[in-house]
Amino acid sequence: MNWGIIAALGLLFTFNTVNGQLDPEIVDEIIPEITSQGGEAKLNCTVVNKQSGHTVHWTFMDSYAGGDIISNDKDIFITNPECKEGKKKYEVIVNKFNQRETYMLKINCLEFVDYGYYKCYIQIRGDSSASWPSKIGYLVVQVPPTITSKNVAVKQLDEGQSGFLQCEATGVPKPNITWVRSDGGMLPGGMGALWNSTILPLNNITKDNRGLYKCVADNQVRPPDVYLVALQVFFKPETKAVQDTVGQAQNRQFDAKLECRIATTTLRFQESWYTLRIKNVEANDYTKYFCIAQNRIGRNATTMITLFETMECQGANCPTYEGLGASAISVSLLATISVVTLAKLLL
Ligand SMILES: *[C@@H]1O[C@H](CO)[C@@H](O)[C@H](O)[C@H]1NC(C)=O
Ligand SMILES: *[C@@H]1O[C@H](CO)[C@@H](O)[C@H](O)[C@H]1NC(C)=O
Ligand SMILES: *[C@@H]1O[C@H](CO)[C@@H](O)[C@H](O)[C@H]1NC(C)=O
Ligand SMILES: *[C@@H]1O[C@H](CO)[C@@H](O)[C@H](O)[C@H]1NC(C)=O
Ligand SMILES: *[C@@H]1O[C@H](CO)[C@@H](O)[C@H](O)[C@H]1NC(C)=O
Repeated sequence: MNWGIIAALGLLFTFNTVNGQLDPEIVDEIIPEITSQGGEAKLNCTVVNKQSGHTVHWTFMDSYAGGDIISNDKDIFITNPECKEGKKKYEVIVNKFNQRETYMLKINCLEFVDYGYYKCYIQIRGDSSASWPSKIGYLVVQVPPTITSKNVAVKQLDEGQSGFLQCEATGVPKPNITWVRSDGGMLPGGMGALWNSTILPLNNITKDNRGLYKCVADNQVRPPDVYLVALQVFFKPETKAVQDTVGQAQNRQFDAKLECRIATTTLRFQESWYTLRIKNVEANDYTKYFCIAQNRIGRNATTMITLFETMECQGANCPTYEGLGASAISVSLLATISVVTLAKLLL
């Protein structure tokens, strides 16, 4: 045994224990706290060998000021408003067990701004701050997702055009974004049924891409946020004859009604019926008719309706002959014509 070493250890020991006391220490690591917005967080700072002349402080390292001192032992040092009924923003609860003292910092009514690093240190009067024991704890305030780009409720595009839909979201942790079609259909451009990105590309769209699109922002913190946007697609009208052929007898004051359905889809399939009424059909009316529809995008004129000659009156407005004299027939015809005129005015 080298007595010199023992003497040196003795000296060290003496040096370490001023007045026979051990130096104060923070003994345990500060367990990081992960909790939700609106809730409360608890950070423990456990110290040993704390004597008079020592004070335990909590600071918030991520404050705007860059290190606000929150507490001095169990007293709150910074402004401490009541954040909900009977609850102040900060509390320090001290528990003693033998030589161990736990300074539990309780933060109530958690907000996103409370997120960050908290430092606990023991201030030793007379020593320079560089030698004060300290430990750092971490607080994560989870925030449910908020979609911040809900500014468009309806997106309008012409067939063949390109564009995109946008779904930006905030939240802690950063939310996952999922685009789907509300009706469960496929997304444009062969992208399948799901798209996990803030930007949903709409390339060279077709009328089948019209519909309701849904963006879900989810980060496992309830509730997820949802954004619905309707995609309107303008396209060339589509025409279709109600009946390809219409018959009517000539020169007897009978009318012919040619009907055509025109689809001018935007969001939902909107179909309108258009009627061409040919009054008092004559020989030179027997021909082919076209239903031409045109809008800003283009025109469609494929539909053809043929008006052909029949021997008898055709259609709903034909006169009936049963047991009626000649004068009665002419009255009936006049009545028919007046009804037709009215119908035309209403169309
Ligand atoms: C913090 O300390 C208190 C009191 O000593 C104890 O009840 C609690 O379990 C501790 N929490 C953590 C996360 O260590
Ligand atoms: C897209 O998001 C959904 C829902 O969050 C998830 O189930 C799926 O695995 C994700 N797909 C990809 C390719 O990341
Ligand atoms: C857009 O789509 C149409 C129909 O699917 C196709 O004929 C055309 O080539 C496409 N245009 C581009 C630029 O991809
Ligand atoms: C995002 O999605 C991925 C894959 O589905 C998943 O592993 C991850 O936990 C999700 N993130 C959040 C914050 O929900
Ligand atoms: C006109 O509309 C019909 C559907 O009614 C469609 O099949 C046809 O392709 C369209 N024609 C043109 C030139 O767009």
